Amino acid sequence: MAEVKKDPATGSTDFIVSPGGTLRGRLRVPGDKSISHRAVMLGSLAQGTTEISGLLEGEDVLCTLGAFRAMGVQAEGPHGGRLTIHGVGVQGLQAPGAPLDMGNSGTAMRLMTGLLAGQRFDSELVGDASLSRRPMARVAEPLRQMDARIDTAEGGRPPLRIRGGQRLSGIDYHLPVASAQVKSALLLAGLFAEGETVVHEPAPTRDHTERMLRGFGYDVDVSGSTVRLRGGGQLTACKIDVPADISSAAFFMVGASIAADSDITLEHVGMNPTRTGVLNILRAMGAKIELENAHEVGGEPVADIRVRAARLHGIEIPPDQVPLAIDEFPVLFVAAACADGVTMLRGAEELRVKESDRIAVMAQGLRALGVDATEQPDGIVIRGGTLRGGEVQSHADHRISMAFSIAALRASDPITVRDCKNVDTSFPGFADLARKAGLAIEIHRS
Ligand code: S3P
Repeated sequence: MAEVKKDPATGSTDFIVSPGGTLRGRLRVPGDKSISHRAVMLGSLAQGTTEISGLLEGEDVLCTLGAFRAMGVQAEGPHGGRLTIHGVGVQGLQAPGAPLDMGNSGTAMRLMTGLLAGQRFDSELVGDASLSRRPMARVAEPLRQMDARIDTAEGGRPPLRIRGGQRLSGIDYHLPVASAQVKSALLLAGLFAEGETVVHEPAPTRDHTERMLRGFGYDVDVSGSTVRLRGGGQLTACKIDVPADISSAAFFMVGASIAADSDITLEHVGMNPTRTGVLNILRAMGAKIELENAHEVGGEPVADIRVRAARLHGIEIPPDQVPLAIDEFPVLFVAAACADGVTMLRGAEELRVKESDRIAVMAQGLRALGVDATEQPDGIVIRGGTLRGGEVQSHADHRISMAFSIAALRASDPITVRDCKNVDTSFPGFADLARKAGLAIEIHRS
């Protein structure tokens, strides 16, 4: 167990990570967050009993599950990643008695907005302080074009009030930003709409919704950058094996690359090509990554990923990799800070509207550790160098907390990362697993 020290002055959960170390062994990180949300959603709307294994029991997914329970769905679990959902059918949800709390999760809020727009009853979606600052007009506007009635707070922010009993009509929509969340919200609304819902993407984004709808027996047509489906169909319950989350594996992929003598294997990781930007970028930087035991589970490719320490060099990140690595940039910036030369990222303004402004927050934190990092409106320029220790603020962003913990592997002194409680949203047990792998991390709770 981690040594737990009280810090009554801040009342926060902080990580204190001693410098140095080596990552070794075989580990399995928790289940994929995107796939877990979708499994709960489609399992709830299906006819029959859906058995899920490998579910992420993180707070974000538990918010989604809580919302369906509040709408009358019976489910057993999750226990050890197993969840049994007794689906109520596409038309079977009941009005919730209170606003649905989506916590910290943008995915839950945006996908649920699409799904709730087609219900017979009114609903309201709320979230925590971070989620309440995030843009929701990107889903509300196209859903209104489908004749949904959605009120947002000022500036298109949550809470969202969704009026039930509307007859939705399919639309043909060109996404202005490459966003799997918006695409998925429209496809979920499309299940309840008359006619065809057609979504065109400006660049490929994660396609778990399309794959899983098919797994539940729903007809989805994908051709190039266009996805289409017709409303009015049924979903049939199935079994889902959720692979380990490549976004969580990414912390160890970078950690093993930057820490001398490291050699780790990450087991059963989801290798969907719309998610493997982190692997492509790290390989372009000189990382030693091998894939073993590649196979497919339930329509999603998986593999074990072996990573050994390597000398990394800076690169210009190819723009086509940006949507494919969108959640992995905080830890990729740590890789860049440890690489020889300069790494440049452009075309990634979306990072400014994630759980925190990840460009600003990472630039501040890297500079606090002595790294030359310059913000751009849509990216960052990082000159690799030496990292000293120090204190960094995570701004309650789970991925920032974990990225700076990994940075300690190459720091000269301890790194204190403030406000790490939200790590539980996507990676419960991160500190324990990281310690087992070789990171000298302690949790300090007030
Ligand atoms: C997600 C899509 C991405 C990603 C998020 C999960 C999803 O967001 O950042 O963590 O599950 O659809 P955008 O679609 O807004 O880029």
